[in-house]
Amino acid sequence: MLRVVRTLGEALALAIDRLGASDSARAAAEELLGRLLGLRRSDIHLERGRTLAPGEWARLEAWLRRRAAGEPVQYITGRAAFRGLDLEVDPSVLIPRPETEGLVEAVLEMLRAEAVRWPQPRVLDLGTGSGAIALAIASECPSAEVTATDTSEDALRVARRNAAALGLETRVRFSPGDWFDAVDSDERFEAVVSNPPYIATGEWDYLPEDVRAFEPQGALFSGSSGLDALREIVDEAPRHLVAGGLLALELAEMRAEAVAGWLEGARDWGGVTLLDDLAGRPRVLLARRERGPAIAPAQWEEER
Ligand SMILES: C[S@@+](CC[C@H](N)C(=O)[O-])C[C@H]1O[C@@H](n2cnc3c(N)ncnc32)[C@H](O)[C@@H]1O
Repeated sequence: MLRVVRTLGEALALAIDRLGASDSARAAAEELLGRLLGLRRSDIHLERGRTLAPGEWARLEAWLRRRAAGEPVQYITGRAAFRGLDLEVDPSVLIPRPETEGLVEAVLEMLRAEAVRWPQPRVLDLGTGSGAIALAIASECPSAEVTATDTSEDALRVARRNAAALGLETRVRFSPGDWFDAVDSDERFEAVVSNPPYIATGEWDYLPEDVRAFEPQGALFSGSSGLDALREIVDEAPRHLVAGGLLALELAEMRAEAVAGWLEGARDWGGVTLLDDLAGRPRVLLARRERGPAIAPAQWEEER
């Protein structure tokens, strides 16, 4: 039987034919091919003469059909890059975003600056999804004790698998539950970090089609204002932070000032700062817990 030999160069041409020749379509094509063949994207053009096995060609065609139907590349390949980590993702978890890398950087910067005061900082990642934030912090700050939570058991399964694959399973504790309910009521942390759902339900129509069709709604929406999760986290965080502890939150640029306004001037908080992403949009809120937990949480209500 005649066997058709196909090269990587032909595969690339097919991918561009199916997906288009724009920069983003080319990037998607290269990412798919790189993942398919275990090559770095920069090596794809160097290996254009390499032949593909028939199974690889068939898989590529299936992947291109899925991409042409709008499915994100990361769900097709099951992999996403985040701060140098290669993470498993599936439709039960949000695809980690570049702006969240900035959120992690802000937390790591604080942990480095406070390394003498807090040599083994306890860090809580609320709504961990794929585990991106928790695992990046555990990987880049080897002394940190990290706890990661989520209400989605499916997401926690993915996050646990990522931890195991990265050899970080002993460094990160995973706990199911609704925001701070996932940890003990008197448990305290040097840093609480979260990228919670922050899209208003009425903003559905403004989301990109691939986000609407493929990403988990429980990771995206937070009530009619988009602020429900942020409000809950901001209200509860003082009980779970040590004096001077950091609250670091990702949020929507159009509501960043409003959320900062909740903390500015409040007696629990100081050092309220908004950080811009690479496009100059405020996407990260930082604040420090001003007062120490001098009293037990059970007494907290009386004192507030
Ligand atoms: C925007 S995604 C962030 C995922 C991941 N941290 C990241 O940055 O890629 C929000 C996550 O919060 C989780 N979540 C939603 N409501 C929650 C709740 N009430 N308590 C804990 N986690 C929640 C979702 O399941 C989802 O994994």
